[in-house]
Amino acid sequence: MVWVTGAKGILGTEICKTLNREDIDYVATGSEVDITDIDEVNLFAHNRGRRISWIVNCAAYTAVDKAENEAALCEKINFKGAENVAKIAKGLGCPLIHFSTDYVFDGTGSVTYREDDPAQPVSVYGKTKLQGERAVAAFNERFYIVRTSWLYGRGGKNFVNTMLCFMNELDSFTVVNDQIGSPTNAADLSFAALQFIKKADHCEAGIYNYSNEGVCTWFEFANEIYRLGRLNGLIKKECFICPCTTVECPTKAPRPAFSVLDKTKIKKTLQIDIPDWKTSLRKYLEND
Ligand SMILES: NC(=O)c1ccc[n+]([C@@H]2O[C@H](COP(=O)([O-])OP(=O)(O)OC[C@H]3O[C@@H](n4cnc5c(N)ncnc54)[C@H](OP(=O)(O)O)[C@@H]3O)[C@@H](O)[C@H]2O)c1
Repeated sequence: MVWVTGAKGILGTEICKTLNREDIDYVATGSEVDITDIDEVNLFAHNRGRRISWIVNCAAYTAVDKAENEAALCEKINFKGAENVAKIAKGLGCPLIHFSTDYVFDGTGSVTYREDDPAQPVSVYGKTKLQGERAVAAFNERFYIVRTSWLYGRGGKNFVNTMLCFMNELDSFTVVNDQIGSPTNAADLSFAALQFIKKADHCEAGIYNYSNEGVCTWFEFANEIYRLGRLNGLIKKECFICPCTTVECPTKAPRPAFSVLDKTKIKKTLQIDIPDWKTSLRKYLEND
């Protein structure tokens, strides 16, 4: 049985849907099983009659800006929580799929980031996610850490849904046009994560990058949401999206200016093709 933590979030929701579709037995928990409480996690994991063979940890603190003022809580969930889950997985003798972020990089580069490039996070969120990665790798040798970026899906608050609301409510707004990355449809990421379970015998433990193919700025991402949203009738009126620079539109937490991930390793290991971000966005907006 697969145990999915953080199952009510963007990714957790899609992971559960994917497991359901594939008829794989799973158990899903939200924040009622608090990953920062090792006793709670232990109790759940060792509940008699439940034979957990994989853990997929989607639980995380993901409010990037809020984290700057809530560093202790963010660290507790992303570092200590991840460590707890890794320890429990080790105790159960099962592999762990854990997720991390492009925000472990400072984004000063201009070449796609490989898994072994030096991480240098610039935000509290990024730092705690890196701490979490290290704890996972230290406490369970059967680990698959998947770093992803610009995630959206049906399970929670995310850029695509926020843009759709803004575009329906406002006449105009600004979006940064000097941060470059790759959007990721949570359904595509869930499909990739499932391949680790299916093909575990051929997959070395380690860090893997995953996002959709192609790159864009947040402004370009927003424009494509607008174009497709208008085509599909999801946006009912005209809205003007203005480009701005990071300096013009500062956020509490600094973001990497360039955080495109190199996906060669995951594509080779799992033998998968990764859809282009525009294709996946279209599918998402068409509810496909
Ligand atoms: N969203 C992105 O753009 C993005 C980008 C790169 C990487 N990632 C990574 O991808 C993974 C999934 O992110 P996501 O976007 O799906 O996150 P999300 O939507 O914020 O979901 C995270 C889930 O974790 C739960 N959670 C929080 N604290 C918990 C705790 N102490 N114990 C148990 N559950 C807890 C939350 O429950 P409550 O809501 O009830 O608190 C929430 O349902 C994370 O590792 C994240 O760092 C996300």
